[in-house]
Amino acid sequence: MKLIKFITMRMLISIGISAFISTTALAQDEVQTFTPVQIAAGAKLFSDNCAVCHGPKMVEPGAGFFDLRTFPPKQRPRFINSVSNGKNSMPPWKSVLSQDQIGNLFAYVIAGEPK
Ligand code: HEC
Repeated sequence: MKLIKFITMRMLISIGISAFISTTALAQDEVQTFTPVQIAAGAKLFSDNCAVCHGPKMVEPGAGFFDLRTFPPKQRPRFINSVSNGKNSMPPWKSVLSQDQIGNLFAYVIAGEPK
């Protein structure tokens, strides 16, 4: 009797855990939507701060500069981290731009100019 109780508990726990994991996976695959306001704010920030290296409207980045049109839409944490803290020859932006502004830049890069 005790054993059955134990097994039932284990089953319930593992069902709980797998439900949790699949919800997390779903959240990552969720289609991201950005408001026109975010995208427009990002466009302005981009032309003021980023276009000098990454190219006007993300087109024709200079040699050695990441082509932002190829940035993977599902890697938001990578974007926030690289832009905040810099990467190799890209300077960090966290003392210049707020996290909100960097979020708007992400909206612009993913959903802004036609690809
Ligand atoms: C001084 C030139 C310069 C400026 C200005 C600049 N970047 Fe970069 N950026 C780079 C270079 C160089 C790389 C490639 C870094 C590497 O992978 O070695 C890069 C890479 C990136 C990447 C890819 C990072 C990754 O994880 O691979 C993103 C995203 C990015 N830049 C966004 C921005 C944004 C947004 C701005 C404006 C706030 C900006 N950059 C301004 C030079 C610049």
